Amino acid sequence: MVKKVFPKNFLWGNSTSSMQTEGAVKEGGKGKSVYDTYRAKDGTSIWDTAIDEYHRYPEDLDLFANLGINCYRFQISWSRVNPLGDGDFNPEGIKFYSDLIDNLLARNIEPMICLYHFDMPLNLAQKYNGFSSRHVVDAFVRYGKKMIDIFGKKVKYWITFNEQNLYFMPGATKIAGKIKGKETMADLYIISHHLMLAHAQIANYLHEKTSAKIGGMLAYSEVYPASSMPKDILYARQIDEFLNKNLLDAFVLGHYSNEVVNFVQKNNIQTGVLPSDLAEISKMKSDFIAFSYYQSSTISSTLVPEKTAPNYYFKFGGKENPFLPVNEWGWSIDPDGFRDVLTKTYNQYHVPLFPIENGIGLRETYYGKEIQDNQRIEYHKEHLRALEKAINNDGVKVLGYLVWGLIDIPSSAGDMAKRYGMVYVNRTNTDLLDLKRIPKKSYWWFKKVISSNGASL
Ligand code: BG6
Repeated sequence: MVKKVFPKNFLWGNSTSSMQTEGAVKEGGKGKSVYDTYRAKDGTSIWDTAIDEYHRYPEDLDLFANLGINCYRFQISWSRVNPLGDGDFNPEGIKFYSDLIDNLLARNIEPMICLYHFDMPLNLAQKYNGFSSRHVVDAFVRYGKKMIDIFGKKVKYWITFNEQNLYFMPGATKIAGKIKGKETMADLYIISHHLMLAHAQIANYLHEKTSAKIGGMLAYSEVYPASSMPKDILYARQIDEFLNKNLLDAFVLGHYSNEVVNFVQKNNIQTGVLPSDLAEISKMKSDFIAFSYYQSSTISSTLVPEKTAPNYYFKFGGKENPFLPVNEWGWSIDPDGFRDVLTKTYNQYHVPLFPIENGIGLRETYYGKEIQDNQRIEYHKEHLRALEKAINNDGVKVLGYLVWGLIDIPSSAGDMAKRYGMVYVNRTNTDLLDLKRIPKKSYWWFKKVISSNGASL
């Protein structure tokens, strides 16, 4: 039982991306995104329908309202509102989001907009190789500013890039829309810098034109050393510095990490950073820091070859943590890691934090009886207790807590078997069935948590 409840006006909610929810990829004047190319051999794609949110959102928003949530983070699909990414805007696409926002506000649910969640307009991927090009940075800023001009008065909470630190990890050029050529270490630095530059321009514009709030967003996984061996501890710290703090420093302090800048200079990595870019970044303010948290990770230095760069350590040195349970997909369950991420980040940066994705993927099938997802209830209960301790014992300022995929959606790999929801969606990977929404046991549990503002935990 928690002794103290959550702060007044705490935001309880849901978090999704457009391609994992909307479907309707050929409707409303939407242009193609890279997701239209992710197809099975028979030509089908789970993303064509996803959970059909494009047509069913009023029903889903009623489920949110009945649950009592007061915040919904969703993504504007760039290629729906701007089919080529750098051409004309699509009034029908804009109307879709405008209606969605009005429907949310009518139910007292604060919208939170995310501008990019890995689905580069295909035109920009094919012509310019996505965010490896400055043309695409400019196109993104143009799109972001347009969305701010249209929605900046109604929507109080904004983020630009989903999990911006992932672009620094090997394999990340794909989510940046770089579809041609091999990936080099310099690519990761160039793309990461382009994203920060775009984020800074949008944050500065939003602050100039509106009173809305914007923050950077990371996938924050607590990293543990596999042992007390000093090199394991050094590697865990370096990962945190290169993958997380480098960006947090930029978001909050307006400059990249000293250690990372030195690494770039020493290794002569050609990042193409211009003095005017750094000036733009230095002007940036973050009203909050948003992050996703699902699990923690463990690094063993002995598995990592000599001279490996810190952002590549996990490619070789990731290890299971013997102290933590895992789900079927090997994702560890670590609420203490959640508290530690919250407290250490707030201690260092003193900016309100906003965990906007949390949850556990479980395999579930509906057989006509309510799904008893006790494991999910336990997961959220433990993470909320950790959050409550961070707030009330450690003094961390937290804006809210958003659950990932509160209504079931396909996983990032396009797998409907891995579900995060408190509401079941009746479809499989290959069969749309009736797409019916059916609350699980956790839905009713979460409703009590929200209505008591955490006191029922
Ligand atoms: C986050 C992504 O990293 O994790 C989501 O923002 C994703 O798109 C979520 O769905 C959960 O991961 P997965 O692979 O289990 O769907």
